[in-house]
Amino acid sequence: MIVNDIEAYAAAHTTDDSELIRELIKASDEDLEHIDMLSGRLVGRLLAFLVKISNARRVLEVGTFTGYSALTMAEALPKEGVLFTCEYNKRYESIARTFFEKSEHGSKINLVMGKALETIPDISGTFDLIFLDADKINYPNYYELLLPRLKKGGILAVDNVLWGGEAVNPESDKAKAIDQLNKQIAKDESVEQVLLPVRDGLTVVRKR
Ligand SMILES: C[S@@+](CC[C@H](N)C(=O)[O-])C[C@H]1O[C@@H](n2cnc3c(N)ncnc32)[C@H](O)[C@@H]1O
Repeated sequence: MIVNDIEAYAAAHTTDDSELIRELIKASDEDLEHIDMLSGRLVGRLLAFLVKISNARRVLEVGTFTGYSALTMAEALPKEGVLFTCEYNKRYESIARTFFEKSEHGSKINLVMGKALETIPDISGTFDLIFLDADKINYPNYYELLLPRLKKGGILAVDNVLWGGEAVNPESDKAKAIDQLNKQIAKDESVEQVLLPVRDGLTVVRKR
């Protein structure tokens, strides 16, 4: 059985996304040439789990795209929960905003436009959960910037840590940056982590 079949099987036996989220995926697919950046049901439902079991109130996401993971996490947050999500592409922003406005959970979401390494320092406070899913080349820089913003006991989830398997023997600049982050996390004694081979690889880090 090939990996794609296993992934499809796993997704088919995982809690479904909400109707609005399914509509968001469909609209993204119709409006854009590619939607492979969208993290998808396995990562999305896992993020929703993490939000719920950690009792997260304040979430930060780096890399909104059309809002799939942001809205998935917002649905899992309690009423008073707040989620900041960073994006710099206006085309993706407009799809994301359309769906945030349609959702009863959209009022929890603050979409912050601009280059994330520059906008994150302007977002105040610390976070219970952070989802890193933006420009891979800057993953090591994001780690340095984000870890101090994570509460003690808080969770950092990092997507695409296997980079299609390339992280194992990195040759491209992106794969090298991802491998650098994986090594940076592995030797950081202030955290404990599990690299899950879910979809393109998701590392779940807990700050000690
Ligand atoms: C993999 S996609 C995010 C997918 C999203 N989390 C989801 O699950 O649907 C990465 C996003 O990061 C955005 N991005 C890339 N570099 C960025 C930067 N420097 N600042 C802000 N956003 C950035 C891209 O435009 C893209 O929409």
